[in-house]
Amino acid sequence: MDSIIVTGNGPLSGTIPIAGAKNACLTLMPATLLSDDPLTLTNAPRLSDIRTMAELLGSLGAEVSTLQGGQVIAMSSHALASQRADYDIVRKMRASILVLGPLLARFGHAEVSLPGGCAIGARPVDLHLKALEAMGARLDLREGYVHASAPGGLKGGTFEFPIVSVGATENALMAATLAKGTTVLKGAAREPEIVDLATCLRRMGAQIDGDGTDTITIQGVDRLHGATHPVVTDRIELGTYMLAPAICGGEVTCLGGRISLLASFCEKLDAAGLSVTETAEGLTVARRNGAIRAVDVTTAPFPGFPTDLQAQFMALMCTAGGTSKLEETIFENRFMHAPELIRMGADIDVHGGVATVRGVAGLKGAPVMATDLRASVSLILAGLAAEGETIVNRVYHLDRGYEHVEEKLRAVGALIERIPGR
Ligand code: UD1
Repeated sequence: MDSIIVTGNGPLSGTIPIAGAKNACLTLMPATLLSDDPLTLTNAPRLSDIRTMAELLGSLGAEVSTLQGGQVIAMSSHALASQRADYDIVRKMRASILVLGPLLARFGHAEVSLPGGCAIGARPVDLHLKALEAMGARLDLREGYVHASAPGGLKGGTFEFPIVSVGATENALMAATLAKGTTVLKGAAREPEIVDLATCLRRMGAQIDGDGTDTITIQGVDRLHGATHPVVTDRIELGTYMLAPAICGGEVTCLGGRISLLASFCEKLDAAGLSVTETAEGLTVARRNGAIRAVDVTTAPFPGFPTDLQAQFMALMCTAGGTSKLEETIFENRFMHAPELIRMGADIDVHGGVATVRGVAGLKGAPVMATDLRASVSLILAGLAAEGETIVNRVYHLDRGYEHVEEKLRAVGALIERIPGR
């Protein structure tokens, strides 16, 4: 397995291009299952999770090809051979469950392996299933698979999500586009990735209103047609790279960044003493003088502070002047980066869903272990600020969500290299 070596090297400066959003692309790709016609995505990120979704769609008989080095994904589901998503692929990536709604809506039946747990918590899929049941789906859980059927086709219904779920909203939204009649999703997720999915589905002929609010109304249509759609900017990659100059000093412009994608995060950077400026080309973060101020954060569904930036923000708070409290409300067990940051000299206590971070004068390089995608990159950020060398082991998680991380950080002056595993 590859490792990444980072050596603290002072302030950063320059520009970093931000890719299309992994999480948007992972729900846009299964949308191809809703139509006979081709769906082409542009601005796609080049990541192992995207390749896994391509493999899953290919296993169902979809044609998936990548162009322009992976930035364009051309898909067609006109000759789908199977409606069964096998455990062997689903176990690699939870987002595989997103094929369930589209398969069921178009073919009236689907079998999808249950995704199992993952490093950041139990992550059930009960809400995906309940939302589909509200559209008339019959579900049977056997031998680790969801066997779903809707003999006369799905029918519009009303479903209120008891808690906000991005994935369940996406599954229900895709399914509802081909259901007969009107579907109303209440308590829906409002993330930019949901709006991007709805925009793509509208391009395919779907009738959707209210995306970006907590109530989405979908008027089912008989068929969807082909479309070409550019994937929205990855707000998590954006926030991650905005933290690099915040941690090391300097000034970096993240190309394609918009405050509207990350308003609550930008407010916290401002409170910590950083300057964030939006221009036509993107977002510029500058740390010119003075210490970082300690800032409390509570993760929440959009438009709140994203759970996917909690680990990276913790890396910043490790050297802040004062004590901050970081509360995680979305996933249990999402502080696995804390013990690794402590190995680098951080002062952190975790009790339940709250991490108390007392800022220290400086971090020291150490060998550390990446435990999940966002934890991996938080250790790289901490390594950029640490004295000496930090070796981040097990970085395969990183490749699931960050394309060319070493090149992007090297371009702004970081000392970072990948050591291929044996
Ligand atoms: C998506 C993102 C992930 C992000 C998360 C929250 C993708 C591919 N992944 O994950 O990066 O961290 O949103 O912003 O887009 N839950 C249930 N039952 C369900 C579904 C979810 O109880 O059926 C719970 C989860 O355990 C969690 C909460 O709801 O506590 C939110 O999860 P959800 O929004 O569904 O996350 P994902 O869509 O899996």
